[in-house]
Amino acid sequence: MTTDFSILVVGAGGRAGRAVTAEARARGHQVTAVVRDLGRHRHLAADGVELVAGDVTDAGRMAELAPGHAAAVHAVSPFSGPEQGFAGLDPEFFVKAADALLGSGVPRPLFIGLAANLLDATGRPVMEDPSRFPAFILPFARAHTAGLDRLRAADPAPDWLMLTPPAGLDATLPRTGRYRTGGDTAPPDDVPFSYADLAVAVLDEAERPRHHRTRISVF
Ligand SMILES: NC(=O)c1ccc[n+]([C@@H]2O[C@H](COP(=O)([O-])OP(=O)(O)OC[C@H]3O[C@@H](n4cnc5c(N)ncnc54)[C@H](OP(=O)(O)O)[C@@H]3O)[C@@H](O)[C@H]2O)c1
Repeated sequence: MTTDFSILVVGAGGRAGRAVTAEARARGHQVTAVVRDLGRHRHLAADGVELVAGDVTDAGRMAELAPGHAAAVHAVSPFSGPEQGFAGLDPEFFVKAADALLGSGVPRPLFIGLAANLLDATGRPVMEDPSRFPAFILPFARAHTAGLDRLRAADPAPDWLMLTPPAGLDATLPRTGRYRTGGDTAPPDDVPFSYADLAVAVLDEAERPRHHRTRISVF
């Protein structure tokens, strides 16, 4: 079964991108899978999945790719793990990506967030608590947060949404199809959560938008 719902997945070769693509295909939707290097990701091309090249910070390219898509998903990270270090991390990376997708013309831009800028019970961002967040990852967390701030400041703006998973996001966990949503506050305990269930929430919001121009937590 193929629906006429098309979704643009930027960063389709990453953990979130692969999970979102799989969930979209399981629902019969068409996926345009955007990767930086076609050569490294040829295996992603499949029935219902068109593989194209693009960089999320390239506003012109995002605007070129957007037409015909009901939603776009920013599943991009310029930083895959602490071992990679922060040399070369552009503090404006997520701001540029936000601008590119907001300005692309896609009606429903969806962004995967970072648990670090959820708030603890006292209202303090988790990233500001050294007992919960390693200081050396702060540059990445700040860059992510600048992207969220950019989304919040955008006016006018399309119907964007940021979905922020808990700290324990785990690619090895299976899909349960169940999740809960909250606001800016971190879930009380860091129960591990699967990329597959994050993808369920992303597709639910792509198909039937329930939250608008805001950030939610998904856990
Ligand atoms: N608990 C949490 O809060 C949590 C945990 C993990 C991730 N996240 C967030 O979830 C999102 C996705 O992370 P992930 O774990 O799926 O990351 P990942 O597995 O490292 O994948 C990231 C992907 O982004 C792509 N990419 C990097 N720079 C790009 C650019 N300029 N344009 C287009 N694509 C680019 C990479 O492409 P290449 O294949 O070309 O290198 C890679 O496939 C990120 O925003 C991340 O911060 C949150």
